[in-house]
Amino acid sequence: MSERVVEMISEEEVNARIAEIGKAISEEFAGESVFIVCVLRGAVFFATELAKRITVPVTLDFIQVSSYGSSTVSSGDIKMIRDIDLSTKGRNVIIVEDIIDTGYTLGKLKNLFNQRHAKSVKLCSLLDKPDRREMEVDVDYVGFTVPDKFIVGYGLDYDQKYRNLPYVGVVELD
Ligand code: IMP
Ligand code: MG
Repeated sequence: MSERVVEMISEEEVNARIAEIGKAISEEFAGESVFIVCVLRGAVFFATELAKRITVPVTLDFIQVSSYGSSTVSSGDIKMIRDIDLSTKGRNVIIVEDIIDTGYTLGKLKNLFNQRHAKSVKLCSLLDKPDRREMEVDVDYVGFTVPDKFIVGYGLDYDQKYRNLPYVGVVELD
């Protein structure tokens, strides 16, 4: 079986949308600072581009939780693989993710940072695949809503491939 990637959202569109989200975050947190928790590995490209567009002081740290591996089906459970190093107590946490699918990853991470007494916890995802939601989650900042297809590029992978594509695309198998 061979696969190919069809472009869905261009690099220019993605970057323009990230600039808008950066502006919105900067306005919402004017006079304060934010603590970006980047969910490894997929959100790295989005989180760094977003951080460059935020004009209030930014702290950046990384967390990794279990994900799909090489399958395309979610397990429904998340496991901590790498926790952040810095304290988020009293901080304005923004959890930055590549895509929200079933909702478990962002839903459970939000609960975790609330338990750690963040001042506020916001969720920010480059992509939203609402058709597959199993856990109800309010995402504060969404880049684009996408159909129920397997999405790659701009950090998202298919079997660890295609993260480095500068655009968002769909994997087609034939
Ligand atoms: P959730 O916990 O089901 O919301 O899944 C979120 C995680 O699943 C993301 O961080 C991605 O790693 C992965 N994921 C979900 N859908 C896709 C996709 O279409 N392409 C690549 N990764 C995906
Ligand atoms: Mg992921």
